[in-house]
Amino acid sequence: MKRIGVLTSGGDSPGMNAAIRALTRYAIDNNFKVIGFFKGLKGVLDNEYTELTDRSVSGIIERGGTILQSSREPRFFDYNFRKLAYSNLNNLNIDALVIIGGNGSFNAAYKIFKESNIKVIGITGTIDNDIYPTEYTLGYDTALNTAKEAIDKIRDTAYSFERVFIVEVMGRDYGQLPLEVALATGSEIVLVPEFKVDIEEIAQKIHIFKQKGKKHVIIVLSEGYSNAYDFYNQLNPVLKKYSDYELKVSVLGHIQRGGSPTAKDRIFGTLSAYKAIDAILKNQNGYYVGLINNKYTLIPFEEVINNKKTISQELVNFLEEIAG
Ligand code: F6P
Repeated sequence: MKRIGVLTSGGDSPGMNAAIRALTRYAIDNNFKVIGFFKGLKGVLDNEYTELTDRSVSGIIERGGTILQSSREPRFFDYNFRKLAYSNLNNLNIDALVIIGGNGSFNAAYKIFKESNIKVIGITGTIDNDIYPTEYTLGYDTALNTAKEAIDKIRDTAYSFERVFIVEVMGRDYGQLPLEVALATGSEIVLVPEFKVDIEEIAQKIHIFKQKGKKHVIIVLSEGYSNAYDFYNQLNPVLKKYSDYELKVSVLGHIQRGGSPTAKDRIFGTLSAYKAIDAILKNQNGYYVGLINNKYTLIPFEEVINNKKTISQELVNFLEEIAG
């Protein structure tokens, strides 16, 4: 019987369990044995794995995180350790490995594709939606909604005290998550890593919103733009020159990574797994399952290595235009 290995790697994202469940059951239906490696590539290096069965993936579709756990494995950057990983996979008779993860994990997947005889297929799994060129990555919608709910609550209290809030949102170096969180919450300002804004200009914008009668001002700050407390220390003295506005900080942090996946992420995880097994059945190698023009599509890992996603300045401007 042929064997498929599966692992989740890098930052976990809601919907990974839905993908593991569908992948396991569909692979078993197609006469594969499924080996789940624990803690990403660490499990491959340290031979920590289990056989996944129809029953062992029961009751997980609604759970956040990943039952296989995850890691960012630095040893995989070293070719000697990668050789050990390839030999461990060969000793276990793994024909194809499915890697569920983000950019870092797909870089590793590309190395496996180039350097070994093991077939490798990727399923996206990152709240950042920063993998090129797919339109969507697993977990993004849940993170977006979690941040939206948190900011709705912050806004209630911001209104009551007429405060200005800096809310730090995840998304690493790509601004889509902060931008869409800001659009969904009607926030007044969004600061994304792609576009730096002068601190004086930000203070002026806040002052103008206040003069227009706005009770609260919410600044959605991408973690990739600045640490929220450093940003507070920069902005607060400049803002005080305009008026005695009260500035507060809230860092949403890892709550954005957890929680039960939305319907969209459960379905995306499930159908990405379906496409991944289909790709293996068709002997495809070196691709990940992404969404292009809203269609599940196999995309070569090479594209991820050589390209970066970008966001539009126009939307950032539009958000501020309609905020007041
Ligand atoms: O890539 C997902 C992500 O949550 C990023 O948004 C964030 O920058 C990073 O992972 C945080 O990583 P860690 O869990 O190691 O703190």
